[in-house]
Amino acid sequence: MDLMREIPMTEETNATRHQPCATVDEAILSRRSIRAFLSDPVEDETIREILTLASRAPSGTNTQPWKVHVVRGDVRNQLCDEIITAFIAGDQYSEEYAYAPDPWGEPYLARRRATGWGLYGTLGIEKGDKDKMKAQHARNFGFFDAPVGMFITIDRGLELGSWLDLGLFLQTLMLAARGRGLDTCPQQAFAGFHKIIQNRLAIPADEMVVCGVALGFADMSAPENHFSPGREPVELFARFVDDLATND
Ligand SMILES: Cc1cc2nc3c(=O)[nH]c(=O)nc-3n(C[C@H](O)[C@H](O)[C@H](O)COP(=O)(O)O)c2cc1C
Repeated sequence: MDLMREIPMTEETNATRHQPCATVDEAILSRRSIRAFLSDPVEDETIREILTLASRAPSGTNTQPWKVHVVRGDVRNQLCDEIITAFIAGDQYSEEYAYAPDPWGEPYLARRRATGWGLYGTLGIEKGDKDKMKAQHARNFGFFDAPVGMFITIDRGLELGSWLDLGLFLQTLMLAARGRGLDTCPQQAFAGFHKIIQNRLAIPADEMVVCGVALGFADMSAPENHFSPGREPVELFARFVDDLATND
């Protein structure tokens, strides 16, 4: 299949409406952040296909602001070792952009807590067990054992709008991976170690490391991979506006 080929709306079916596609729902519904991967390798060709599909994500006036740095094999292993060593030593951590407000307010704080404790619960990590929490957090920096890691970077000269585009790219990438039986975990945790990543992968200074993404085959025997935090119902985040407010 030529993944760069655009599919005309009416091709094959000759219909006037775009036909529904059930597998999109399946990809969306089966995607979750996977935190334990098998060591089975992923072919470079498959990674290229996923990136090709991800590049179909929309972006403002087709600016395509995403950049991806893929690591596997020795490069992945050595880089992960360096970051894990720095994490354990409490070294080299710095943030270039704020992902989180300080402090988090509600309702976000409660959702974060429920997700964090839900995940730790599946792993038998109890409140106050800081060593186990730190060890679990450290697993981020080995891509949760995924054989492929990606770093998403963005041109520093771009604005917030392009970060929106980056999010769309990220989700498209994760769904494309699902479509091929692969799984992912988006990882903002890596941003704190941007100095090591930027330096060791020779990422140009005008790019900013936004996040990492683990890619591989999920280990479905790992309990943490069966954790799937719920979502709020539509009524809680969407409203259908039936009347205009009076113009004051
Ligand atoms: C931009 C972004 C950054 C994230 N960073 C991390 C991370 O560093 N480590 C991690 O384990 N999960 C990370 N996650 C995964 C979220 O915790 C996860 O998406 C959320 O809990 C919802 O669960 P689900 O992805 O399984 O549906 C990140 C997700 C996003 C979208």
